[in-house]
Amino acid sequence: MPKITILSGTDRPGSMALKVSKFVQKQFEDKGAETDIVSLEDYPLQDVAGGKYGTEIPSVIKFNERVLDTDGLVMVIPEYNGSFPGVLKVFIDYLPFPDAFEKLPIAFIGEAAGAFGSLRSVEQMQMIANYRNAYLFPERVFLQRVSTIFNEENGITHEMTAQLMDSLVTNFTSFTERNMSERERKAGIK
Ligand SMILES: Cc1cc2nc3c(=O)[nH]c(=O)nc-3n(C[C@H](O)[C@H](O)[C@H](O)COP(=O)(O)O)c2cc1C
Repeated sequence: MPKITILSGTDRPGSMALKVSKFVQKQFEDKGAETDIVSLEDYPLQDVAGGKYGTEIPSVIKFNERVLDTDGLVMVIPEYNGSFPGVLKVFIDYLPFPDAFEKLPIAFIGEAAGAFGSLRSVEQMQMIANYRNAYLFPERVFLQRVSTIFNEENGITHEMTAQLMDSLVTNFTSFTERNMSERERKAGIK
């Protein structure tokens, strides 16, 4: 079975992104996948201050390896000011270039207080992942007005959204599995 890593896309303490990530992790484990969660709360922001692009920063290398040592990545993305959180862009700007996302299957889950469930943020991130040659998984889930349709105890309480999440989890697991051998062949990533 593939290894699926879930990236919680904000450093905000107590975020819904991390709660949703933990819920999704359990769903992937129920399908038999090996999983890990990486939260941007743990991103070593202080070590990149001053624009140290292109230099080897041990804490950043360690963080990035946790995200990239995987067969498939799920990004859980909140909407901040009509986009994704700035820390998520910092994370991307300090990834190894060009190969970090090369042929990596990536699925996207949006969650927001607003009515569009982070659709804008997810689509903006899909453009970036596409630029970096990831394999974009076409099913996406948007948790609209997230605090009304999701909680840690009951999971997703909106029936259609719950069905869409179940479909994403099932199909992304097999999508990732089908791509494993190709990614494994790429030297330096696996
Ligand atoms: C800096 C900031 C900007 C935000 N901008 C938006 C926004 O543009 N649209 C929206 O629907 N919600 C916005 N929100 C609310 C988040 O969607 C809400 O906090 C939700 O719980 C998801 O974020 P979280 O994962 O940090 O909890 C914003 C929250 C923060 C902290």
